[in-house]
Amino acid sequence: MEMQNQPLLKGKTVVITGANTGIGKETSLEIAKMGATVVLACRNVDKAAKAAKEIKDTTGSTKVEVVQIDLSDLASVKKASLEILDKYASIEVLINNAGGIWSTFQKSAQGFELTFAVNHLGPFYLTNLLIERVISSRPARIINVSSIAHRGARKNWSRNLIDGSGRFASSQAYAMSKLANIHFTRALVKRLSSKDITDVTVNALHPGPVRSGFGMDGDLKGLIGLGNKLIRPFEISAAAGARTSIYLASSQEVEGETGGYYAHKKLSPVSSRASNEHESEELWKLSEELIRESGFELSEF
Ligand SMILES: NC(=O)c1ccc[n+]([C@@H]2O[C@H](COP(=O)([O-])OP(=O)(O)OC[C@H]3O[C@@H](n4cnc5c(N)ncnc54)[C@H](OP(=O)(O)O)[C@@H]3O)[C@@H](O)[C@H]2O)c1
Repeated sequence: MEMQNQPLLKGKTVVITGANTGIGKETSLEIAKMGATVVLACRNVDKAAKAAKEIKDTTGSTKVEVVQIDLSDLASVKKASLEILDKYASIEVLINNAGGIWSTFQKSAQGFELTFAVNHLGPFYLTNLLIERVISSRPARIINVSSIAHRGARKNWSRNLIDGSGRFASSQAYAMSKLANIHFTRALVKRLSSKDITDVTVNALHPGPVRSGFGMDGDLKGLIGLGNKLIRPFEISAAAGARTSIYLASSQEVEGETGGYYAHKKLSPVSSRASNEHESEELWKLSEELIRESGFELSEF
């Protein structure tokens, strides 16, 4: 841990989704050590309370708190955002970390394909609902946990992908959702810079192949599930997988750096699709349409 970075987060508020386990929990633990208030935004409050206690016991911090959020339900995202806005006067760091992969086609509360909903649409909406508070807390950072898997994305952003009328393949759904994380990062940077906001940075990252709970809770079946189990001995620990998230959240080296995609704490190239601005805009507009059509309002940002 880079000692000179520690004052940067002291007294700040860091909101992190999916923080009860895996990469999110390890990220939260290191950030708690730096003196920040860490808000574990998790779908299961019991698991989150257990993680919060562990983090407090390990770090000695008293400022580890829990907010319930289910990213597969826009109503839950809205409710969680209201709770966060009510409780925290500032949000200096938002880490969209939660994510998953599912081997069968499933629908979110609003009827969207689950991988798209949890990995992209929920975080997109959460960020929209919190963005004004993040802007008023600047300098601030938004970090989106993507994956090298974005390189495998082959589908178009058609409604078929999202309502499931086409053929479902879990690896493709996952790759598309992780591509969406990078498109979202770049399109958000574009909007912030059009308002001359340069001290709210937005970056994406690949954590590495991590031996976490990812795909291990019975959600991933068949050959992909077997493959996921077989590679576990060769994967890095969740603590090692958290390093790039921690770096982007806390290091002075990346102050003012925005729109990047990092791996091993270094800028890394994205696929040609991920750097296609037209596609980023297409996905942004589609995401807004889907949220509005579901009866939810977006902030005017
Ligand atoms: N592991 C890897 O090799 C790898 C590689 C590249 C990228 N990533 C990315 O890293 C991020 C963290 O994954 P991980 O490896 O730490 O996996 P993990 O151990 O399975 O943790 C995933 C977290 O996401 C949460 N989550 C899942 N569905 C949710 C929902 N509907 N609402 C709110 N939270 C939800 C989980 O909550 P529950 O505990 O309640 O299920 C858990 O806290 C993900 O975005 C993943 O795509 C991982």
